Amino acid sequence: MPSVYIKTYGCQMNERDSEAVAAQLVAHGYTLAKSEHVADVVILNTCSVRDNAEKSALGKMSAMIGLGRKARPGQFFGFMGCMAQSRGKELIDRLPDVDLVLGTQKFHRAAEYIDDLIAGRRNKIVDTDAETGSESTIREHLFSDSRKASVTGFVSIMQGCNQYCTFCIVPYTRGEERSRPVLEIVDECQQLVSGGVREITLLGQIVTSYGKHDIPKLNGKTAFVQLIEAVHEIEGLNRIRFTSPHPKGYGDDLVEAYARLPKLAAHAHLPLQSGSDRVLKLMHRGYDRKRYLEIIRKLRAACPDIGITSDIIVGFPGETEEDFEQTLSLCREVEFDNAFLFKYSARRDTPAASMPDQLPESLIEERHARLLGLINEIGARKYDAFVQQLVRILVEGTSKKNSARMMGRTSCNKIVLFDGAERHRGQIMDVRITRVGSFTLYGDPAIVNL
Ligand code: 5AD
Repeated sequence: MPSVYIKTYGCQMNERDSEAVAAQLVAHGYTLAKSEHVADVVILNTCSVRDNAEKSALGKMSAMIGLGRKARPGQFFGFMGCMAQSRGKELIDRLPDVDLVLGTQKFHRAAEYIDDLIAGRRNKIVDTDAETGSESTIREHLFSDSRKASVTGFVSIMQGCNQYCTFCIVPYTRGEERSRPVLEIVDECQQLVSGGVREITLLGQIVTSYGKHDIPKLNGKTAFVQLIEAVHEIEGLNRIRFTSPHPKGYGDDLVEAYARLPKLAAHAHLPLQSGSDRVLKLMHRGYDRKRYLEIIRKLRAACPDIGITSDIIVGFPGETEEDFEQTLSLCREVEFDNAFLFKYSARRDTPAASMPDQLPESLIEERHARLLGLINEIGARKYDAFVQQLVRILVEGTSKKNSARMMGRTSCNKIVLFDGAERHRGQIMDVRITRVGSFTLYGDPAIVNL
């Protein structure tokens, strides 16, 4: 049977989509190749959130085609995901060797389309149509004998976003918000837990809007909180995480859930984007500085050990030095455990792309470096405070960088590396932190778990 290699760019949702497509192809008899050099079919799952991500995928595809055409003349090439959705046929006009362009609502058609291409029934396929019910098609997981049982599992609970932040391309690549039914999600989580998964991350472009359009509030609880409660019931599951949320979804019901539901991990990723009310308004974020700080205060009152991380965009059109200083001051006030910083990138069809006062690259670079300095300084202080502390971790497997080490995660989402063994995989362990690296903790389990 033909072999397939899928390379993924972008977020955890993309990782999950790639896994679902890979599982679908395996179910159809395809094998999974280790690299593009040995695969019959190569698919790039793409990200559109910034121009750089698109450029990398385009560069990678043309390099692969160049090599593949010489070494493996019969190789097939496809794009899937966000860039496939937003650019469609244009990708084939640009790279005529590309055979398949698969939009974000068509992942479940991958096997059928690749079969058609290989059998020669069709020779170019572009499908970026919307499809009712596609949110429920990302459900297959890879369970292969060669893979050690996964400790963490990812479950897609919804697709799309209706927030229309003015900088963001996601509503155009992922479509309107559509949610899967609670029972279907719980069933999928249950199956993962039966297969050995201990921690589940609920995924969606704006998870806090889960079920908003079709599941009424119950006793003041949003559909999202109701879903967390339902997943929480699953026996054998230790932890629940979710990404990505929107601050507007952090009502008192969700804040209170952190205090009430022991399996809900003590971590909130709260994308801030900017600390300036003026910029937040231009971004169409739906909260201001005061409200953001109020959420943080309530979360810390409900769950004192909570880890708080964020996404921040530097250099939104018209951002003044004063606006930027508001972001710096908010970061100082909140003291994020970590934050991902993004240099503003104009995206096609988004309102911000045509706003006045697009900032020069050099200014964006300079502000990015200043903010990064601050985030690193605060992060280092927060991580240093863990030295000598005892932390409880769920061991996920071997460390990516050093296979002699094991890697676990605290509930508050800190990565902990330690000299462990394969038998620790999947275990909840107490570890004494001995030293700190960059956004990493190093622990010694021997002192505690004799
Ligand atoms: N430019 C830069 N960063 C962006 N993000 C989304 N759109 C853009 C853009 N046009 C960032 C936001 C979001 C994260 C996933 O990507 O911070 O939270």
